Amino acid sequence: MQIRITDQGQVMHLQTATQIHRFHAIWLRDNAWDRATRDADNGQRLLALRDIPRDTHVVAAKLLSEDLVQLHFMPEDKSVNYLTSWLLDHAYDQPQERQPGWLREQITLWDSQLMTDLPEADFSRLQGDNKARDAWLRKVAEFGFGKLTNGPIRDGALYDVVDLFGYVRETNYGTHFEVRVEDNPVNLAYTGAAIQAHTDNPYRDPVPTMQLLYCLQSSAPGGENMVVDGYYAAQRLRDESPAAFNLLSRYCARFEFAGEKGVCLQSRRPMIELAPDGEIIGVRFNNRSAAAITDVPFEHMADYYEAYRHFGEILDDSAMEVFFRLEPGECFLFDNTRVLHARKAFSGSGSRWLQGCYTDKDALWSKVNAAQREEG
Ligand code: FE2
Repeated sequence: MQIRITDQGQVMHLQTATQIHRFHAIWLRDNAWDRATRDADNGQRLLALRDIPRDTHVVAAKLLSEDLVQLHFMPEDKSVNYLTSWLLDHAYDQPQERQPGWLREQITLWDSQLMTDLPEADFSRLQGDNKARDAWLRKVAEFGFGKLTNGPIRDGALYDVVDLFGYVRETNYGTHFEVRVEDNPVNLAYTGAAIQAHTDNPYRDPVPTMQLLYCLQSSAPGGENMVVDGYYAAQRLRDESPAAFNLLSRYCARFEFAGEKGVCLQSRRPMIELAPDGEIIGVRFNNRSAAAITDVPFEHMADYYEAYRHFGEILDDSAMEVFFRLEPGECFLFDNTRVLHARKAFSGSGSRWLQGCYTDKDALWSKVNAAQREEG
């Protein structure tokens, strides 16, 4: 390991056996871990950028050991130690050749072949076993969905599943909603009809980022649940037609739900949402609550509809579908910003009763990340 300061103290070079990483003095100063910069207990930064001089630069650098660098900053006249391993973990001096539609590395894409190895666990075992719970939550984060078997058959049992990692998101549908055949449904979900794969509630801002569906009765034939990886579908669209991908990610669709008195939920968001650097961060697809699209210029509207149709064809492709039948005491949990869900038609001759609720994925990822840090 070698270090070198260049550019009048503005840049530090950290050289390993294989690579040189450059770091800016202002970045290093902002990321100091001394007690005056960071709270020793909770790790929160105690300084704002305005507290750090604009002309911050490094006047001296020393390798105290293989894993410890000491830098001296002026004009503060301040020495700070850095773990080289921390610096290497946070190195940013690398080519960022990311094409639009890239995904973070913790995510694994899937298609119908995942049916042979579902991200599934036994609910009764997870409740007393934090390791097993964390392993299942990691799969839910990685694949965007997971199934649980062998849970209690009890009204409200779905809350015990949410308790594994997070909190219920209450909406105008309540803290949970009942999914069963109704005579005068306010929503198609409550009839026996087959439903196209969709994400829920795209008319909310923000959308509920996770959904849980828990089965309490299932004697009616049919009604299998199905899931599709929307991120994989978005990447397929990009690879099959970059222009279509560009249209669906560049222009906003509109969604609305006004099916209840006193409710008029509206949103304006793209069907494929990208971060400014092109990362796929969300998919919205729901024919039932799509409102008139008015944000696509006239000259692109016909192509936009072609792109919308193409995306729908990929989502309807049976090679993308993972389906399973939920028995009483079984449930599935999914990332509603990534995974689309659907239900095959079922007859009203028997009974089918599911309870559903919304929750959020920040709590899921928090559990996953915290468990990973504890493992070291
Ligand atoms: Fe739904």
